[in-house]
Amino acid sequence: MAFEEITRRGLVLLGCGKMGGAMLAGWLERGLSPEAVHVVDPKPSDWLQSTGVHLNGVLPEDPAVALIAVKPQMMGEALPALRAMSGGRTLFVSIAAGTTIARFEAEFGAQSPIVRAMPNTPAAVGRGITAIVGNGASSAAHLDAAETLLSAVGQVVRLEDESQMDAVTGVSGSGPAYVFHMIETLAQAGAAQGLPPELALQLARATVAGAGALAEASEEDPGQLRVNVTSPNGTTQAALEVLMDAETGFPALLDRAVAAAVKRSKELADG
Ligand SMILES: NC(=O)c1ccc[n+]([C@@H]2O[C@H](COP(=O)([O-])OP(=O)(O)OC[C@H]3O[C@@H](n4cnc5c(N)ncnc54)[C@H](OP(=O)(O)O)[C@@H]3O)[C@@H](O)[C@H]2O)c1
Repeated sequence: MAFEEITRRGLVLLGCGKMGGAMLAGWLERGLSPEAVHVVDPKPSDWLQSTGVHLNGVLPEDPAVALIAVKPQMMGEALPALRAMSGGRTLFVSIAAGTTIARFEAEFGAQSPIVRAMPNTPAAVGRGITAIVGNGASSAAHLDAAETLLSAVGQVVRLEDESQMDAVTGVSGSGPAYVFHMIETLAQAGAAQGLPPELALQLARATVAGAGALAEASEEDPGQLRVNVTSPNGTTQAALEVLMDAETGFPALLDRAVAAAVKRSKELADG
């Protein structure tokens, strides 16, 4: 299913906040006609109103895709608006963290194709990464369609099983916040060594962004990139001995942090 089918049958976007808005902006930039998009959102932003999409009107009965981008706690209130689209022809795509495929099958029936997706906040600048997994009724074409839509805000990877979603949440879903905190604490450490705080923050932010871009662009894996910048007995090695300590460094810390996120993701999914 390409944009042509969406143009013909329409796309419903339920919830147009940070994530929904980033996706909509990406689709429109890629040439999807605003005429094809029907948005449901109680408080549409000025930007949304300026796009020319259909807003809070009568929804098409048979849209190609219904994309759910409301907060998980709004599901009970929001989903009934889409119930008329269940039956198998409309593809449901959800980006809601922690809301399971079973929850959507209970609402729309197991015969409805449903793709659950977990994006992350760099989607706001088109640099997100989204993991997707489909239910039994979703075909390869449905997954391709979901991938096309979600690739408007970054990379897309496919999971073999929904059970992997909790770990994905712990790595890429929540991960941007870990990196933001790394920037904060690297800047604080620089300030503690005597740099003006603003300068320390500029250095830390550009270092993390630049190293991230290099790690993504390089053919070498991150471990090799690290070795490349670590001269024996040099400054980087001195710091890495602290950071790579098996008990007090990043390995143990990130292990515990990711495990805590995964545990919480499971608790939220269990209600
Ligand atoms: N942000 C992330 O990093 C991230 C990452 C992974 C997954 N997600 C998932 O993405 C989803 C959206 O997150 P977000 O950050 O974009 O949240 P958000 O900015 O709060 O967007 C949700 C939007 O849905 C609207 N809404 C509320 N009730 C509705 C209803 N009954 N019908 C239609 N629209 C309704 C909200 O309007 P009001 O503001 O007026 O309530 C808001 O505009 C969540 O399920 C979240 O779990 C987010």
